[in-house]
Amino acid sequence: MRFKENNYNKIFVGISNFIRIICGGDRLKRITDIIEKLLRKISRENSKKLTILDFGCGSMEISKKLQNKKYIKQIIGSDIFKHKFKTKKMAYLENDKLFKSNKKFDVIFVIDVLHHIGVEDAHKVIKKLYRHSNKIIIKDHFEHGLLSRSLLRFVDFYANYGYGVNVPDKYFNKKMWKKTILKSKSKELFHKENFQQHDGLFNIILNKKHHFVSILKADE
Ligand SMILES: C[S@@+](CC[C@H](N)C(=O)[O-])C[C@H]1O[C@@H](n2cnc3c(N)ncnc32)[C@H](O)[C@@H]1O
Repeated sequence: MRFKENNYNKIFVGISNFIRIICGGDRLKRITDIIEKLLRKISRENSKKLTILDFGCGSMEISKKLQNKKYIKQIIGSDIFKHKFKTKKMAYLENDKLFKSNKKFDVIFVIDVLHHIGVEDAHKVIKKLYRHSNKIIIKDHFEHGLLSRSLLRFVDFYANYGYGVNVPDKYFNKKMWKKTILKSKSKELFHKENFQQHDGLFNIILNKKHHFVSILKADE
């Protein structure tokens, strides 16, 4: 769902979706695959069906793809906008309400969200999320210098146009990511760099060195 609907946006969105299809720009397939594998493993290790928070869920496209997995009990999406959404296994809860509640989840996933909140503030959000679960799966970007940052900014503009999502000034680099882990008092249980997200032209423009996946656990 695009949040600002007008004719210019609709034309731009139509063209951008077409370009995405023919140039290997489907970002959801590989992300959903890896999140699915990690969730399945967590479910197996804990011998239970999972209650999951999709933090910064957007239109919950990833959760929609995951919801029918047998090992998933429920997925709550949370974001900064007001929205009414409910299916058999999914529901939506605004950020503010989430943080005021004492809801607990087996695991939280945070996909391409932290850089929008701001890499300097990411540790504060992670700490807040630990009140709701001690395990957080994160997918985000690494920048590798100014050109790489500009590419990420361009792709973020392109991917989020019409959603009203801000384009960040900067992204994580490896040093900043380590700092975030330290400041949020986390332990990294899993780390995958060079995660290929796209195919074709999109993979040439924004290749796998720009994507990483991590699992953090509260280290207390
Ligand atoms: C690139 S979209 C990712 C959406 C979804 N996670 C996905 O991967 O399809 C970034 C999302 O982060 C959300 N976001 C931005 N700032 C946020 C905040 N402070 N708290 C929660 N979500 C936030 C935006 O509203 C947006 O839905």
